[in-house]
Amino acid sequence: MEIAVLIAGLLVLAVVAVLVTGRQRSTTGRLARETRKSDRSAGPEAVVPEGEESIEEEAEEARARADEARHAIESGASVGEVVPSAAKTPAVYEPVDEEQLGVTRRQFFNRSILAGSGIGLGAFGVASLAFLWPSGGAASQVKVAVGSEADVKTAFDAKIPFYNATAKTYIVAYPKADLPKAKKVYNPLVFAGMQEGYVALYQKCVHLGCRVPWCESSQWFECPCHGSKYNRVGEKREGPAPRGLDRFPLEISGGNIVVDTGNLQIGPAIGTNTTGQSPEGAPCV
Ligand code: FES
Repeated sequence: MEIAVLIAGLLVLAVVAVLVTGRQRSTTGRLARETRKSDRSAGPEAVVPEGEESIEEEAEEARARADEARHAIESGASVGEVVPSAAKTPAVYEPVDEEQLGVTRRQFFNRSILAGSGIGLGAFGVASLAFLWPSGGAASQVKVAVGSEADVKTAFDAKIPFYNATAKTYIVAYPKADLPKAKKVYNPLVFAGMQEGYVALYQKCVHLGCRVPWCESSQWFECPCHGSKYNRVGEKREGPAPRGLDRFPLEISGGNIVVDTGNLQIGPAIGTNTTGQSPEGAPCV
């Protein structure tokens, strides 16, 4: 009995659920009854179902617009309102004024390189001119009083030449005993000084121009640059020098030895050895 009542209750609930679901599905996509009733009261065109009518309206509007456009084209009128673009004249290239533009990085580097090269070449030119230009001293000062005979003889007693930096000249003694041989070799200007007992030797090596120092041990002039050696009176004995040391005329004036540095005389030829002096000790070079 209880089971039958329960089954009957379930059936009633099932029927109610079916009815409620069907009612909800029937209202989906449809206007409510009241809405359709009010639409019908508004007029025949208001009750046109949506969907087909809206499509028909859009198609009709499209046809109207097409007809309007066609009519406008055929009559030569413009379709719609076409706004022409603003006419613009192409910009004309105008060269930039470099003064206004300023110096670019490339220009800066180029000008720097040019300036550096110019400075280098200028310095080289100045140095070359300075090297070639006659220097002061021996060449510019014609006659130089290098010292008194007393001072010179003091040096000789110490077995060293007398040196004068202004004239760049060594004063050495010439033995009177060798004058006959010297007379055959040297010109009168140089020989005149030899007769006074002196020779004025230019300090510059005739090989490549080094200053030739005196070697006290050998009592020769020995050039440290390439080993040329000259005896006490500047006659070439060894090394690559092409001749003996060049020399100046000299005279005695008032007890002083005066050297004519503006009148350089070429040194004696290789093989000249008027004094026959051999090295007197160990060489310096
Ligand atoms: S410069 Fe004196 S030997 Fe060369």
